[in-house]
Amino acid sequence: PLAATGDLVTAAAGARTAVAAFNIITLEHVEAVIAGAESVAAPVVLQVSENAVKFRYGRLLPLARAAAAAAERASVPVALHLDHVQSDDLLRQASAAGFSSVMYDAARLPYEDNLAATRAAADWAHAQGLWIEAELGAVGGKNGEPPLDAHAPGARTDPAEARAFVADSGVDALAVAIGSSHAMTTRTATLDHERLKRLTAALGVPLVLHGSSGVPDGELSAAVAGGIAKVNVGTALNIAMTGAIREFLAAHPEAVDSRKYLSVGREAMAGTVARLIRVLSA
Ligand code: G3H
Ligand code: ZN
Repeated sequence: PLAATGDLVTAAAGARTAVAAFNIITLEHVEAVIAGAESVAAPVVLQVSENAVKFRYGRLLPLARAAAAAAERASVPVALHLDHVQSDDLLRQASAAGFSSVMYDAARLPYEDNLAATRAAADWAHAQGLWIEAELGAVGGKNGEPPLDAHAPGARTDPAEARAFVADSGVDALAVAIGSSHAMTTRTATLDHERLKRLTAALGVPLVLHGSSGVPDGELSAAVAGGIAKVNVGTALNIAMTGAIREFLAAHPEAVDSRKYLSVGREAMAGTVARLIRVLSA
């Protein structure tokens, strides 16, 4: 059934586990994430990023409606989350499109601007009954230089600054920069567990790990033990899908029916989903 992201994250945090949130791009992603979660009987979050909406000719509804329809029929709780939203126009489509939560991403802005934009987004989201995640990366903009992208390899969230940011913005969860970075194709990230410990102690809201495709299993387990309650995964699904399709097409150069290779790609993604969920709940 369709679930609310806030409920899944709260339950995961209470059980000292993390809910996995997978970025969906195609209908095959939707089906694979749900099949993978069903195979391990675990709840899951389907998330649509602003970039994925751009890929879908700027339209949110076709993918959102497909995801909601699939979620309603799933045997496990499935929540819909709008990810890395920078556009206010997209933000305002969230509720009507069936999303229970949004990640508002103003982390590219200097601290005060990030705070002001995030507070306005949080006020709006809460008035709609939406759960909202925001992001705070490196301390930046102090000497006129732009802040580091929060998931650039060198970015780190400062616990004292994050504490003030959460209190002043009113967000329900915070994405923190502790060593992961987006779109890694090797699982070689090492996390700053000591910083995570300080962030967890300082914040009092669930913490979210982005760029989790590049984080090895052991580091993921340690991050969950250290207070991460939502783990965002995108690239790992594309690695699985594209690798499987590439192999299939190499072995079957005569193949033309798209169902033949899409099903292979979908199966590979479902396997990745199940494997990662097991790591998070172990
Ligand atoms: O918000 C989405 C995640 O941070 C995905 O990152 O593609 O590096 O796994 P990833
Ligand atoms: Zn992310």
